[in-house]
Amino acid sequence: MVTLESEASLLEYNTFGIDCRAKGLAVVREAGDVAELAKAGRLCEGGYVVIGQGSNLVFGERYEGLALVMRNKGVKVVTENEGEVTVEAKAGEVWDEFVRRCVAEGWHGVENLTAIPGTVGASAVQNIGAYGVEAKDVIEGVKAYDVRGRREVEFKREECGYGYRESRFKHEEGKRYVVTSVRYRLSKIYEPVLTYKALADELGEGGAKDAETVSRAVERIRWSKLPKPEDLGNAGSFFKNPVVTRERYEWLKKENPDMPAHETEDGMKLAAGWLIDRCGWKGRTMGRCGVYEKQALVLVNNGGCRGEDVRRLADAIKDDVRGRYGVELECEAEFVRSR
Ligand code: EPU
Repeated sequence: MVTLESEASLLEYNTFGIDCRAKGLAVVREAGDVAELAKAGRLCEGGYVVIGQGSNLVFGERYEGLALVMRNKGVKVVTENEGEVTVEAKAGEVWDEFVRRCVAEGWHGVENLTAIPGTVGASAVQNIGAYGVEAKDVIEGVKAYDVRGRREVEFKREECGYGYRESRFKHEEGKRYVVTSVRYRLSKIYEPVLTYKALADELGEGGAKDAETVSRAVERIRWSKLPKPEDLGNAGSFFKNPVVTRERYEWLKKENPDMPAHETEDGMKLAAGWLIDRCGWKGRTMGRCGVYEKQALVLVNNGGCRGEDVRRLADAIKDDVRGRYGVELECEAEFVRSR
């Protein structure tokens, strides 16, 4: 039996620390709870929001639907051979605890994703990424409950629509699926990914001796640049790094020779943090919301911040970057609206 709480505070369910009131809140302890809620008519489309740790969500003052908090736990080995292991983790597992378990077991592939706030379910929805690795590199498949079709469904990785911080589950059409567990294919053979320069530098020549060492290095870099949500409310990178055409990049580069960028399949990826920094926003505050002093990509809660404060600051930053560089920033964090 799932218990429903009405008029619940979401303060402890979002890392930005916004005190939103939800009309309803249900904590999911097992996948069957989602089905039970759907059958009881509690999950009408557009009328619920799925929450892991709420590390990518910005709430308004009130949410007029049901907050579905995923807390179903469990990690099991599905298949295993000499070189690989397929592990299934339930959506409510804390992501970083899962990573630490993988590192300890010698299941390689997620060590570069150490210390990312969020849950296993969110890793598959958001295609989290850091230090040269994305969740999609290791995801084999996703199990979900289809709220519209009222049945369990499975997606292979190719069916998940993965891209940079992108998946089918983030879009309107995909929100009918509540991710309940994720299968990862991990390697028993240690091959460090050291493509991200800051990580390679931190480890030094020959320093990546095992996954544990890489994991600790990632953690050090991460917390040297980003605020811990328990110290200062935030949602990680607030904006995506924008991708522009090569022509636009060449044009911008002429004016800004020191502008960082790198080539991707879709075009040149610029650094949103650099653009925002250059517009003079780093460390600035607007009402109760501010731009983190060490990393302009992160918006922070200066105390009692509301969704509207975050929206106002995000819009002002977008306007400035558009005005100065002609580049449109897209939010990575999601503003949750009630329908
Ligand atoms: N930069 C500035 N000023 C700033 C911030 C950055 O000049 O205030 C410059 C940096 O010097 C660097 C470039 O911009 O040349 C990129 O900055 P950085 O490496 O700090 O961040 P990023 O690579 O753009 C991305 C992810 C992070 C992830 C790191 C590590 C996005 C939007 N962000 O940041 O993801 O941890 O790479 O891989 O893709 C997240 O999604 O929440 C997140 C933290």
